[in-house]
Amino acid sequence: MPKIVFLPHQDLCPDGAVVEAETGESILDAALRSGIEIEHACEKSCACTTCHCVVREGFDSLVESTEDEDDMLDKAWGLEPESRLGCQARVADEDLVVEIPRYTINHAREH
Ligand code: FES
Repeated sequence: MPKIVFLPHQDLCPDGAVVEAETGESILDAALRSGIEIEHACEKSCACTTCHCVVREGFDSLVESTEDEDDMLDKAWGLEPESRLGCQARVADEDLVVEIPRYTINHAREH
């Protein structure tokens, strides 16, 4: 089973975490199952950016993002070339290293 290494995030997983993922499972679902409460304001329907993740390793193993995902990602706080929406990016058979951005767009508005 592929593993996802979540890098430390000050609120969601201060020490980081290693999660066993199922092939075909979304990064978001794997995180939630392991108690890493990444936001998912639109309930995983590709209509917000709160589940934004940056895939630091293994990005190329993921099925490419759709146009809808790319359109949403354009609005994400802290967009990077290896950004994905956690609810849309499905784990393939390679291990991943994932960084959860410090802010979501909801936080960015508040600050
Ligand atoms: S939860 Fe809204 S796009 Fe992923």
